[in-house]
Amino acid sequence: MTDVAARLADLRERDLHRQLRLVEGAQGPLVRLGDREVLLLCSNNYLGLADEPRVRTAAAAAALEWGAGSGASRLISGSMEPHRYLELELADFEGFPETLLFGSGYLANTGAIAALAGPGEVVFSDELNHASIIDGCRLSRAETRVYRHRDLDHLAWSIADADGRAALIATDGVFSMDGDLAPVAELYELARRHGARLLVDEAHATGAVGPGGRGTVAAAGLSGEPDVVVVGTLGKALGAYGAYVCADHETVDYLVNSVRPFIFSTALPPAAAAAATEALAVLRAEPDRIEKLRRNASVLRQALASEGLAVGDSQAQILPVRIGGAEPTMRLCELLLERGVFAQGIRPPTVPEGTSRLRLTVMSTHQPPELEAAARTIGEAARELNLATAERVAAPR
Ligand SMILES: Cc1ncc(COP(=O)(O)O)c(C=O)c1O
Repeated sequence: MTDVAARLADLRERDLHRQLRLVEGAQGPLVRLGDREVLLLCSNNYLGLADEPRVRTAAAAAALEWGAGSGASRLISGSMEPHRYLELELADFEGFPETLLFGSGYLANTGAIAALAGPGEVVFSDELNHASIIDGCRLSRAETRVYRHRDLDHLAWSIADADGRAALIATDGVFSMDGDLAPVAELYELARRHGARLLVDEAHATGAVGPGGRGTVAAAGLSGEPDVVVVGTLGKALGAYGAYVCADHETVDYLVNSVRPFIFSTALPPAAAAAATEALAVLRAEPDRIEKLRRNASVLRQALASEGLAVGDSQAQILPVRIGGAEPTMRLCELLLERGVFAQGIRPPTVPEGTSRLRLTVMSTHQPPELEAAARTIGEAARELNLATAERVAAPR
C-alpha cells in the first residue's frame, strides 16, 4: 500500500473520506444530482444572485469587453477598471475609506492576518473561526491564543495575560458552521482598550445580517473605525467569486505592499468583479431579498423545531442540525438525497470532533412550503435512522 493509499484508507475507516458530487445547473433552489432533482439546502448563494440574470449578463459582458483573465498580479500589469470600480462601490457600501480585492476569502484572511500580526505579537482567535483565519494565524508566526467560543471573559483574561503584545483579535461575524453571531461591539471594546485591531470576517454576514445586509460590524455601529478591518467575500451572498478587505487608506496601502496572496497571485477575472458589482447594485436596490432570506430562515427554524430538531444559537440563515458522529451524519445525508433534499453533512476537521452535522442554509429564492416539507423529510429520516440528534428541542441544554 502506498502512503497515499494508507492515508485514504484511514480517512475511510474514520468516515471522513469526502467525495465530490456533480450537480447540473446553476445554484438555484433546485438542482439536478444524477437522475434526481433535489432541493438545494447547502449553498451559500443566499440571495439568489449567482443565478440572477442581470448578474450573469454583467459577467458575460465584462468577459467580452475585458477578456477572460486579468493577466497578472495587479502590481505587475495594473488594475483593470472592473476591479477599481468594484473596490470603490464596496468601500461606499461598507462605510470604510478604502477596499482591496482578493482572489478569494481564503486568500484574504490568510494574507491579511499574516500581514497584521507577526513574530513577538499575539493574535486572538475564536475557537470556531473559519479555517482561513486559523491558517492566517499560523502563517503570521505570531503567538496564537484561541479563546472559547464567544467567551469575552476568557478573551479578556488572555489579552491581559499577553503583557501588551496583543496585535489582533480575529473572528467570524456570522460563524460559518453554526450561524451564531460574534459579540462584535464587545470585541472592539476589548481590542481598543489593549491597543489591538479587530478583524471581522463577514463571509456569511454580508447580504444577510445588519442594516441593508452590511454585516455585523455595521450592526455594531463600527463601520469605518480605524482599528477595525472587515473581510468580505464575493462568492457567497454576492453570487460571484473573490473577496475584499475594507480598512483605512493607510492600512490598505500597507496590505498592497505586504500581503503575499495579493502580491504574488493573479488578480480576479474581470467577469467576477463585474458580476459582483452588479450583484451589489441588485442587493442595494432590492432589500426585500434580505427580508425574504430572514423570513425563510425563521420558517425553516420553526419547521425544524416542530420536528424536535433544534439549531443551537443560530440567528442567521445557517441552521446546523447536530448529529454527533460522522457516520450517522453521512447516512442521514445520503438518505435525504434519495428523498430529494440536498443537505450536506459536515464532519471534522471542518467542525470539532463529535459535532458532525447537517449544515442547512436557506436562500431568499426558496419557497416557504418547500422548506417546511424539507424539515418534515429531515425529521422523518432522522427518526427512521433512530438518530438521537444532539440537540433535541425538548432536551435540557
Ligand atoms: C467564514 C468564512 N471565511 C472565509 C471563507 C473563504 O471564502 P472563499 O470561499 O471566498 O475562499 C469561507 C468560505 O467557506 C468562510 O465560511
